[in-house]
Amino acid sequence: MEKLEGVIFDLDGVITDTAEYHYRAWKKLAERLDIKIDRVFNEELKGVSRMDSLDRILEYGDRLADFNATEKNEMADWKNELYKEMIVDIKPSDILPGMEAFLDELKQAGIRTAVASASKNAEVILQSLGIREQFDFVVDAAKIEKSKPDPEIFLKALELLDLPADVCVGVEDAAAGVDSIKDAGIRAIGIGDATVLRRADVVLAGTDELRLETLKSLV
Ligand code: BG6
Ligand code: MG
Repeated sequence: MEKLEGVIFDLDGVITDTAEYHYRAWKKLAERLDIKIDRVFNEELKGVSRMDSLDRILEYGDRLADFNATEKNEMADWKNELYKEMIVDIKPSDILPGMEAFLDELKQAGIRTAVASASKNAEVILQSLGIREQFDFVVDAAKIEKSKPDPEIFLKALELLDLPADVCVGVEDAAAGVDSIKDAGIRAIGIGDATVLRRADVVLAGTDELRLETLKSLV
C-alpha cells in the first residue's frame, strides 16, 4: 500500500526565490542601523518570522536594548514595504525549476498538499505566481504564535490536511524549517546545503531534483 498521502511545502526559497529578497531587504534595514549582515548570518534568519528576524538582527548588532516595541514595529514595517516593492512584479516564471511539474505529479497521484510558510505575504505571492489553487491548504501565518523552529506551523498543516505525521513529508530550505518539520514528527526534505540542513532526512541541491519516488521512500 502506498503510504505517502501529504506533502507540506515551505514557500520562500522552496516554491520561489523570495528568500533572496528577504535577505536584501533585511540587509538594507541593518545598514540603516549600522549593523552589517552577510549571507552566512542570513541562514539564521531563513524561515524565521518577521519580528523574530528583526530581534535576531538587533541582537547580532548588539542593539537589542536600544529600541522600544513601537520603534521595532516601524522598522519591521519599513523592511516589509521594501520587500513588497521588490516582489511587486513576481510572476509564474519565478516559480523555481521543476516545482510546477512536481505539483502536477502529486495532484495526479492523489496526494494532498499544503503550504506552511511563516510569511504573511504568502497568499499574495502564491496568487501572483498563479499556483494558489495547486495547494489544498495554506496555513495562515498570522494565526501562528511560535516561529519556526517551533513545530506549531507544521502541526497546523497536518491538522488542515487531516493526516498523521507519518504519511507526510515536509520540504524546506531553512535550518529552522527543517527543525520545525522534524519536531512535528514529519520526514524532511532539505533544499540547499547539507551542512546547513543537518536534520533533513534527504538534502537535494535544488527543486529540480524533487522526485515522487524519493518522497515515497521516506514514509
Ligand atoms: C519566511 C522567510 O518564509 O517568512 C523569512 O523565510 C521571513 O525570511 C518570514 O522573515 C516572514 O515573512 P513576512 O513576509 O511575513 O515578513
Ligand atoms: Mg524558506
